[in-house]
Formats: sequence, structure tokens, C-alpha cells
Amino acid sequence: MQPHPFSLFSSLLTNSFIPEPEVFYVIPGLGSVTNRNKTMNFTHFFRTSFLRDGKIFFTRPVISSFGTKSVPLRSCQAVIKNDAKVTIFPQVRRFSTNHQNVPNIDPKQQQRRRALTILTYASGFIGACLLTAVGTQEYQRLKLRARGIEPLKNRLYGRRSRLFYYRGYVLPNFVVDNIDNIHTFKVREDDIWIVSYPKAGTTWLQEVIYLIDNNADFESVKSRIEDRIPYFEFIYPGIKNINNLPSPRYIKTHLPFSLLPNDFKEKKPKTIYIARNAKDTVVSLYHFAQKFFKPVVTYHVSFDEFCQLFVSDQVMYGPWWKHVREAWERRNDDNVLFITYEDMKMDMPGLIKKIATFLGKTLSPQDVEAIAAHCSFDEMKKNNYVNYTWFYERGVADKDQPFMRKGKVGDWKDHISKEFVSQLDEIMAAKVEPTGLTLTDSFEDSDI
Ligand code: A3P
Repeated sequence: MQPHPFSLFSSLLTNSFIPEPEVFYVIPGLGSVTNRNKTMNFTHFFRTSFLRDGKIFFTRPVISSFGTKSVPLRSCQAVIKNDAKVTIFPQVRRFSTNHQNVPNIDPKQQQRRRALTILTYASGFIGACLLTAVGTQEYQRLKLRARGIEPLKNRLYGRRSRLFYYRGYVLPNFVVDNIDNIHTFKVREDDIWIVSYPKAGTTWLQEVIYLIDNNADFESVKSRIEDRIPYFEFIYPGIKNINNLPSPRYIKTHLPFSLLPNDFKEKKPKTIYIARNAKDTVVSLYHFAQKFFKPVVTYHVSFDEFCQLFVSDQVMYGPWWKHVREAWERRNDDNVLFITYEDMKMDMPGLIKKIATFLGKTLSPQDVEAIAAHCSFDEMKKNNYVNYTWFYERGVADKDQPFMRKGKVGDWKDHISKEFVSQLDEIMAAKVEPTGLTLTDSFEDSDI
């Protein structure tokens, strides 16, 4: 009879192959022993006996006590009781039923076998974990692909990129994970939506809109901006919570128009889009994504590398030009107002009046002045309801990097290399300006 492979393997290590005619080799959990109508699965014995020497032996005490389930852990070398009926399942290799000669097992050998068993278990466990992880990952990937979502792979983002392509855009994982809820979200006619590509001056616009719509009531803005105007697709506070907010809801999103909820076109809520020139946007976004969120970023790139990602349309919510262009093409819709960071910077009171008219609000000249003063860069920088300093307390932002960074038009001149300036100019010239949209990227006095 052929020895069991396990025995052969262990004998190589222990240098002492034992023929053991009376040994049952078992595969865990498969098989049972019956004695006086009481049945016990091998699994009960398995841990003890297998760990001990890779085999299972049944002793008198084991057999006679298994019915009461009080199997002593030390009883792993054993002979089988004469009247016990042993059922061997096909998975259990039986070498012999002769139970008279149980071999004496050398303690050293036992130790080695135990070590080998542990090793076998550990490698099996690690292998199973790895297989499960790879399998799960692959399953997730196929599931995403079936819905038109593909991971964005670029070595600069590391092995575990959290960005995905979906309908021509690069979206962060928290967006694609939530994509069904985004599509089916119930938009209300009296919502006010603030839409932008990140770093276009969204927070600034949010504060302006909130004050206008609340008749310049400065008490109404004494809570964190993210609570007054939630970030639609972000995990906090979450789409379900936004769904339950009372009207009128103010909602901020960085999604492009083509990815707004399905019934957006039908409900036509008032929507204000803010655009900012690409050069200041990329500088601001780099500082935000890499410096402000330094404690939690999953990739680290230089500014030039970030520019490279930006111009090759591989930065989140991009392509930037596509995002802006889609909004510009909707500028004449009744429910859409398209404004720019640069116009806000140039003439804030003028923009406040324009937004008020769009929202159907009447403000006194004093209200307009007061809102403009409250929303100046210096005021907002020190306003703890809008400057995101609470992100420091949450441990996700670097205290040395303010959210309200420069607030300028033309700051890019201190950062972007000639090479990328010309690439960004080309993008503007080829993809944005033909639509009739121009975005100033410098003022005579850049500190306006
Ligand atoms: P910088 O990083 O160039 O300073 P968002 O709110 O979309 O994330 O945009 C943030 C950018 O808007 C930052 O740009 C920030 O400083 C600027 N910003 C915020 N409030 C502003 C204000 N009141 N006036 C001018 N810029 C402002």
C-alpha cells in the first residue's frame, strides 16, 4: 500500500518514515466515528491529533467519551476501541484498520511534525487570504467594468489608484461607489445647486449665495458651510441625508453637468456654475490635493508631475476643459447662471447683484456692500465657519497649509513652468475658446 503523501513529506523532514499500519489519515471535517449510536465528526478530533502528528488515532478514552463531547485534548495518540465502528469517508485515506500496534512517536519528531503542521496551516491560510483578496478585487473590477467604470492607472498614483474613468470623466472612488444613488437622486425644483470644477472658488460662491438667499442675514451663516451647503457626492453627509433635508436645499457639487442626477433636466433647479482659469486652478488644486490633505494623501507627486497629470486629463473631475465647456454650453438655460472666479474678483458687488437677480432676491445697496465685505478673501480666511480649519481637528489636513491660500488671479506665474504654461494655453485655444468662452488668467494688478 502506498504511504500517504503527507507522511512521505513529513518523513523527508523528520528523516524517519513510519509505515504505521494502524493509522488513519484524515482530511479535516470529513468523516465520522460511530460508537453505540453516537456519532462524532472528525473535526472534533482534528485539531488535537492533526496538530500533534499529522494523523488521527482514536484512544479508548476518546471513543468512550466522545458521545459526551468531552474529548480530552491530549488524547491524540490512540488505538481504536474494538467495538467502535469507524466510518471512513472517501476523503479519508485509510491505510489499515489494524489497531494493535500504535507506534511510539519520538517527542522530537512530534515537535517537528507539529511545526510542519503549523507551517502548512499558516501557508494555507495566507494562500487562501491572498486568493480571496485577488478574487474579490477581480470580481469588483469586473463588476465596475460592466457598468462602464474603468480604473485609471498611472504610476504616479501608485498601485492603488482611487480614480476611475466614467462617461469620459475621471472620478474619485467615492463617486463611482455611489454612482447609482447619484443618478437616481430626487432633485427638487426649489433646490439651489452650486456646480464647479474643484478650486474654482466654490466656497466663496457658496457663502455669497447663502447670504443672498437668506436676505443678508449674517446670523444664518454662523454654522459650518459644509453643514449649510452639503457636498452632494461626498461621503459626508451622504446622499441619503441630503435627500432628507428640508427645502430649500443648497447643494454643492463638483460633478459635470452630464453626470448630474437624471431628473435634473426635468426639475430645473436654479444652478450656478463657477469657472476659473486653468492655470490658477491647477496651482490651487495641487496645493489642496497634495499639501492641504498631506496627512491623508495616497500618492505624492511634484508640482510638474501634477501639471503633467492635469494636461493629460488624468486629474479628478477632469478633463477640466470638458467640465467647463459643458457648463458653458448650458449658460443660456433658464435655470443656469455661469460666472467666473475672475469676474467675482474684479467686481464682487456686481456679481452679488447678478446672482441676487437670478435667485429672485432684492437686496439693498447696504446689503450688497455688507455681503461683499463679509465675503472678501481676508474675511473668509479668518472665518472659522468657512475656512475649513475644522479639517485640522479631524486630522485630515496639514495645519501649515491654509485652505484659503492666496485667493488671487495670476498666482500661477509663481509656480508653473514655461512648458506647462504653453500646454495649458494650447488646451484653452483648442478646446475652450472655440466655444466662445475666454477666461482671464491675469489682471494688470494681480492683487485685485
Ligand atoms: P487659492 O488656492 O488659489 O488661494 P474651492 O472653494 O472651489 O475649493 O476654491 C478654493 C480657492 O478659492 C482657493 O484658491 C481659495 O483661496 C479661493 N477663495 C476662497 N475664498 C475666496 C475669496 N473670498 N476670495 C478669493 N478667493 C477665494
